[in-house]
Amino acid sequence: EKGGFKHFMLKEIHEQPRAIRETLAGRVSLDDGRVYLDPTKIPDSAWEGFRRVVIAACGTSWHAALVGKSVIEELARLPVEVDYASEFRYRNPLLDEHTLVVVITQSGETADTVAALREAKHRGCPTFAICNVPGSMAAREADGVLLTHAGPEISVASTKAFTSQIVALYLLALYLGQHRAVLSAADVRAHVEQLLALPTKLEATLGQDAALAELSKEFFRASDFLYLGRGVHFPIALEGALKLKEISYIHAEGFPAGEMKHGPNALIDERLPVVMVMPREAGNPASEVRYEKTLSNLQEVKARDGCVIAIVTEGDTQTATLAEHVIPVPAASDALSAVLAVVPLQLLAYHIAVRRGCDVDQPRNLAKSVTVE
Ligand code: F6R
Repeated sequence: EKGGFKHFMLKEIHEQPRAIRETLAGRVSLDDGRVYLDPTKIPDSAWEGFRRVVIAACGTSWHAALVGKSVIEELARLPVEVDYASEFRYRNPLLDEHTLVVVITQSGETADTVAALREAKHRGCPTFAICNVPGSMAAREADGVLLTHAGPEISVASTKAFTSQIVALYLLALYLGQHRAVLSAADVRAHVEQLLALPTKLEATLGQDAALAELSKEFFRASDFLYLGRGVHFPIALEGALKLKEISYIHAEGFPAGEMKHGPNALIDERLPVVMVMPREAGNPASEVRYEKTLSNLQEVKARDGCVIAIVTEGDTQTATLAEHVIPVPAASDALSAVLAVVPLQLLAYHIAVRRGCDVDQPRNLAKSVTVE
């Protein structure tokens, strides 16, 4: 049942190229330069006229929402707010019929997320669910559904559902963009080409498995970890930290790299491993600026004797001379490099947890689906 893998988590990490192929299948057309979603109860006129998107989710799905915010704002030019479902439902949020409320939930049964969906419906907002379980509560109740076809996720720690959610959010961003006429067929086609290239790049990234198993030997006794990133890589830093804490019980925190001077720098000493998520898209000025700024954060960590593990784009020689450990991922657009960069973080957390003798698939105090608050 584990397909030759020692744990479901490792199997599911390795299933990510397939999960993404399945999530894209039948939904993108290079010929038409269009994205096709299943029919929804939301009329076309509403899709054309949304003024705002609000996304509610929990845990790893909330991290996907933060990536989705960047992608939707960039591609569909719509303002996006991201909320924890547990906050949204008790917050008296400002909503109207021009706001699309999106919930993201692997299981479709998370109590707070389903409650957020019901609250949005109650206030007359069109609702949309990104969900991995057909027939689940969220999938049944939302006005529109985009199923991630990741297949059953058994490991409590979410991996393939997360990367599939990011791809689903990308499709939603393109769908909104084409309805709002901010993306031409040629624009959509260019994005679809990049999406279709992603599974092969993920396969190459999974080739780092042995290197990360080796790296875990050096770090499995650490008591704390810091994860840093900018832009779309900040939620990836948060996700890397969450994976590590939930399965290895090592304390870990994620921060936007630019926040270091505002407090977290005080934590840095020679015992603190700092994971810096810093791929770069050559020729994308915003990405280049974020990279340069993160590189100076890296120099600051080094100046304080911190030990850096950097996740970088293949061929990055600048980082190689500075960081103790460099894990390369294939070149990709800024947004899609988030999907590639999370893979080494999943593998690092996995191998550290195994070395610590933890119950990887069933971490203490956690349940796969949180159906009570
Ligand atoms: C972390 C993890 C949890 C879930 C969260 C939401 O690895 O699995 O943080 O992401 O409980 O679950 P869903 O997506 O089913 O609503």
